[in-house]
Amino acid sequence: MARRVTKAVLPVAGLGTRVLPGAKTTPKNLLNVVDRPILSYIVEEARAAGIEHFVFIVGRGQGAIEDYFDSIPEIEQALQAKGKLDILEDVRRDLPEPGQMSFIRQMAPLGLGHAVWCARHVVGDEPFAVMLPDMLMAATPPALSQAVAAYEQVGGNIVVVEPAPEGEAHKYGIVALDGQDGRLNRMVGMVEKPPPGTEPSNLFISGRYILQPDIFEILETQERGAGGEIQLTDGMANLMKTQAFHALEYEGTTYDCGDKIGLLRANVAFALARPDLADAARKAIAELL
Ligand code: G1P
Repeated sequence: MARRVTKAVLPVAGLGTRVLPGAKTTPKNLLNVVDRPILSYIVEEARAAGIEHFVFIVGRGQGAIEDYFDSIPEIEQALQAKGKLDILEDVRRDLPEPGQMSFIRQMAPLGLGHAVWCARHVVGDEPFAVMLPDMLMAATPPALSQAVAAYEQVGGNIVVVEPAPEGEAHKYGIVALDGQDGRLNRMVGMVEKPPPGTEPSNLFISGRYILQPDIFEILETQERGAGGEIQLTDGMANLMKTQAFHALEYEGTTYDCGDKIGLLRANVAFALARPDLADAARKAIAELL
């Protein structure tokens, strides 16, 4: 049986260029969707999939992420004293058990492949998940749980994919499949940001992966690829020479929160999906329209 996946690597060091100036002093993955930071949803998704250790790959100026996942006694005591126990519970919901989170400095913005490589000592010699926190996924079961279920079925390496919007495939990592039968298919190739017109399919890598630790050795010497960055996609393509990769077309909706309109859509969709807010949200949106 495949070894259980209990660690997730979350690369959060990006500058958040598309959501500046909001992301200038607040790490972009701490921007809110309704009333919680994006990372709150990502960590919840990971926990639901059985993740017990979170490895954040951070950059300078992102200490607020560590603070968010730490308890702040002043806030908790004040809420307790005022009897605001529902808010207290909500504030505590995201807290890990001590020791469940690691924070690693990437030190230089060399690309996603480099960010994942930075996690090698903490992950060690076991399969692990990678979650791109910009990509907020609304799904039942949650996206990473779908990936873990696929992994338990076929083992090896799993890459979650979805159809790219018309004309946008060149902005992403794109997979090539060995035929298509259902949602889980063996991959025969992948390419990062293919020039328009050369895409091997319209399925893009949307931000959840299950990888074998052998990727680390490959990333160590991986040359720079698209955009002059060390690309995870190139590392995976190399690993595919010796290991199986399957693409899972997951069931759900992805919101790219690293983008202004994506973040707006996530806010609207998640508010409408909240039983306590749906009516008020619908009314507010209708008024605006
Ligand atoms: C990264 C990955 C790419 C993936 C994309 C999803 O690209 O390299 O394969 O499709 O995330 O958002 P980036 O968005 O960092 O350019």
